[in-house]
Amino acid sequence: MKEKRAQFSSRFAVIATTVGSAVGLGNIWAFPYKCGVNGGAAFLLIYIACVLLIGIPVICAEFSIGRGTHKNVRGALRQLHSSRFVHSFSFIGLLASILILSFYSVVAGWTLEYLIEAISGQMTATPAADFSNHFSGFASSPYKSVAWTLIFLLCNYFIMRRGVKRGIERMSNILMPILFVILIIFCVHSFFLPEVGRGLKFLFHPDFSKITPSVVLGAMGQAFFSLSLGLSCLLIYASYFSDKENLIGSASLIAVLDTVVAVLAGVIIFPAVFSYGANVAEGPKLVYEVFPAIFASMSMGWLWAVLFFLLLFFAAITSTISMSEITIAFMTEEWGLSRKRASQVNTLVAMALGSLCALSFGVLRDFTIFGMTIFDLFEYISSNILLPLGGIVFALLAGWVIDRRFIRDQLTNFGSVNRRLYPVISFLMRFVAPVAILLIFLYGLKLLHF
Ligand code: PHE
Repeated sequence: MKEKRAQFSSRFAVIATTVGSAVGLGNIWAFPYKCGVNGGAAFLLIYIACVLLIGIPVICAEFSIGRGTHKNVRGALRQLHSSRFVHSFSFIGLLASILILSFYSVVAGWTLEYLIEAISGQMTATPAADFSNHFSGFASSPYKSVAWTLIFLLCNYFIMRRGVKRGIERMSNILMPILFVILIIFCVHSFFLPEVGRGLKFLFHPDFSKITPSVVLGAMGQAFFSLSLGLSCLLIYASYFSDKENLIGSASLIAVLDTVVAVLAGVIIFPAVFSYGANVAEGPKLVYEVFPAIFASMSMGWLWAVLFFLLLFFAAITSTISMSEITIAFMTEEWGLSRKRASQVNTLVAMALGSLCALSFGVLRDFTIFGMTIFDLFEYISSNILLPLGGIVFALLAGWVIDRRFIRDQLTNFGSVNRRLYPVISFLMRFVAPVAILLIFLYGLKLLHF
């Protein structure tokens, strides 16, 4: 007999797992550095507009397709439409998930290195001015970064193998609430730094002259990445929701919590950047240089450092398990592989590609394609191209292609909730989101001029 399909056991688990997927390195590592490179508050403003006008409706689209079918992405599309062309869109998500898992694991691996350095006390013993050299030295060392990437992927593998309830759900329930508490503590600390005013002004006082096509595209890409959107990650999690779940309510809560964490990360980082004389436009290394400087200045700094990198590691792993679930559910349900075997395939592919990404900070630094290293290329293709493309596809499918009644029944739980909100979401999903994504796309790729 076929095994019964898993279902999350409580509303808390639904929120903890989906927020666990959304909140991760995207909020704490990528958001501050992208905000820094792209001029601060103006980026934040466009980012928030993208979350509200594009993010929430596309989450609702993925949620209704997933929860309504209780299947993996390909199975879901097959159930909802007969055209093979429609089914083929499942590959956007599968490809994006493996590319993201590869480069994401490298950054998550850095977290482990820093965790060990924090535990050994080495981090707080380094003078603040040396953090930049320290990072570059470590990231470019040929074997260390690769080794941590592989170790991280192994941790991910052991959780994935345990399955949806015992693995994914249990981890997220415990770890996500702790992460929130610790971020708030760091935020309070940052108000006591000398340059808190400059930091907050950078984050909250927009300079509109900083807005360029690439800033807008970057903000949209970041919104998709941070919300885990457009690659069917939320679709697959929704396939484990119960029929009582309020989809619009959960979608809004996830969007709000995810944005709050990104803003909190900004409030922690920017005052510190200015106080310790770091460069705001430093790029991907920013967080890994500034946080150690914060710890070095705190009393009991090593303890805070251990706690922080531990939680960053957990935030990363609750995200990687969600992206892995896309391919694993696909392989088990479509190809009939066992969960264990599917997890192995997923891990091995990510290990191969992840090693290349790790090496692009060292020996492969000069190996570029379209002017980008392998790491940058994977990041650019997935965030700025595949995820928005997936977003358009899901919005169009849910808004125009799939039976309207099916989507309405999902979003209103057969007419019992959200009757007033439904028309708003439906409008955003059918018109606003697809048009906005398309315009930003063309504008960002400089094919359109205003
Ligand atoms: N949203 C995650 C983060 O912010 C990253 C992620 C992307 C997770 C895509 C799943 C799918 O870190």
